[in-house]
Amino acid sequence: MNKLLKLLVLMSIILLAACGTDSKDKLTVATDAAFAPFEYMDKGEMVGFDVDLLAAVMEEAGFDYELKNTGWEPMLASVQGGDADLAIAAITINDDRKESYDFSSPYFESTHMVVFPEGENITSAEDIKGLKIGVQTGTTGADAAEKIVGKNDESISKYESNSLAFMSLGSGDVDVVVTDNVVASEYVKNNPEAEVDMINDQEAFESEFYGLMFPKDSEVRAEIDAALQTVIEDGTYAEIYEEWFGTEPNLDALKSASK
Ligand code: ARG
Repeated sequence: MNKLLKLLVLMSIILLAACGTDSKDKLTVATDAAFAPFEYMDKGEMVGFDVDLLAAVMEEAGFDYELKNTGWEPMLASVQGGDADLAIAAITINDDRKESYDFSSPYFESTHMVVFPEGENITSAEDIKGLKIGVQTGTTGADAAEKIVGKNDESISKYESNSLAFMSLGSGDVDVVVTDNVVASEYVKNNPEAEVDMINDQEAFESEFYGLMFPKDSEVRAEIDAALQTVIEDGTYAEIYEEWFGTEPNLDALKSASK
């Protein structure tokens, strides 16, 4: 081979390597960071269980990403419209949403709770009938409340964020808030001055599972889901879980839910 040819071959090898399968697009991930302890703002930074889990999964999958705090409804719209490649926000996987989105396998089990001012005589989900109820709009907490008092019942106030619902409980604009159990306990624990209490009701509130949410026919879903499985199996998930919740995760529950 003459020198020029050698050089050409070498150059094409370098070029091929540079644009090989390993160079990936930077992904946009949307969230609604007002849902402690899953995602919330702390000193100007987004933190939470989901934030750490996302970092581990994306590292495993080998994707660069930008996490954007869009708020809840804009988040849903941006995933559906394909502006975001995925979303993580304690998002419940359900049949309704499966019509418009794809999901990862389940990564967290949840249910709902009723939060109310200390001393109120609320002992079951039925007791919210006749009270003013606050929920975050477009969430399964809103669905759970509507299952009890009726769809679009005027006793329900729907807020753009879960924090706004809690604020309305504080100011007395609503009598109770229905929200995800871990978020309810975190709020009760971290806000003693709010003097609120909570109950669960296993008969009224079903168990549900969170998943990463993708646009329909997402090209990255399978790869990211595989990375999530690895992170669950290699102990990284348990580490993050223990850091945030102080207990060990029930991996069997997740496994049987993903079937
Ligand atoms: N799990 C509930 C749902 O999917 C509430 C999620 C709210 N998440 C949030 N980051 N605000 O509807």
